[in-house]
Amino acid sequence: MSGLFISFEGGEGSGKTTQTDLLVARLEAETGRRVVRLHEPGGTPLGEYIREWVKAQGAPLTLPAELLLFVASRAELVQRVIRPELDADSIVVADRYADSTTVYQGHARGLPLKDVRAANAIATGGVWPDLTFLLDVLPDASLRRAGLQMSFDEEGQVEPVPRADDSTKRRFEELGASFHRRVREGYLRLAKAEPERWVVVDGQQPVEEVHAQVWERVQGLQRSM
Ligand code: TYD
Repeated sequence: MSGLFISFEGGEGSGKTTQTDLLVARLEAETGRRVVRLHEPGGTPLGEYIREWVKAQGAPLTLPAELLLFVASRAELVQRVIRPELDADSIVVADRYADSTTVYQGHARGLPLKDVRAANAIATGGVWPDLTFLLDVLPDASLRRAGLQMSFDEEGQVEPVPRADDSTKRRFEELGASFHRRVREGYLRLAKAEPERWVVVDGQQPVEEVHAQVWERVQGLQRSM
């Protein structure tokens, strides 16, 4: 495989989608190479179906089923899109990839990490990003960005309160502040364990500043390949 594979990771409201868009536009403008933008789950007929289906569910899925749905979507994506595109020398930019499963289903929701790793190994077939950006944002800041405000319950615990009623905000409220803390800690742990792949960027900086730091690292990677 001769392409370049870059992923963005982070909690809700961390700015992944904005940064993915900015990086894709810049790569298209400046490299002349084919750039493929992906958003997990999704990117194949099965992946889009799973995305819609998961979003439409009123009640949470059982954890093992949730894990297997995300990795089923990823298996299709790797085999049908990512691997062929990398073989064809494309640049693939993913808004979430296998690390999301490790963190959300493993660190945050509590499935054994060895099971999550085994599932990811099947789904990825060993295809991992060359570079992964963690957009690190304190959970209360990401809650605000996602359109929520914080309040304190009777024990002084901070809980998110939705300002308006849409599905992202509802999902956030249902998950709770401690879930978002576990997500952040899980990501930081992964980044520390594999520093050659991960770049931790302070996601609370202005959008242009975050993009400048991302772009610098991507240029460095292109020079080294
Ligand atoms: P995200 O793309 O951040 O949401 P949006 O639709 O608002 O752009 O991700 C959707 C949700 O799915 C998010 O809460 C993270 C979760 N998720 C997992 O729990 N495991 C996974 O493997 C993936 C890819 C996402």
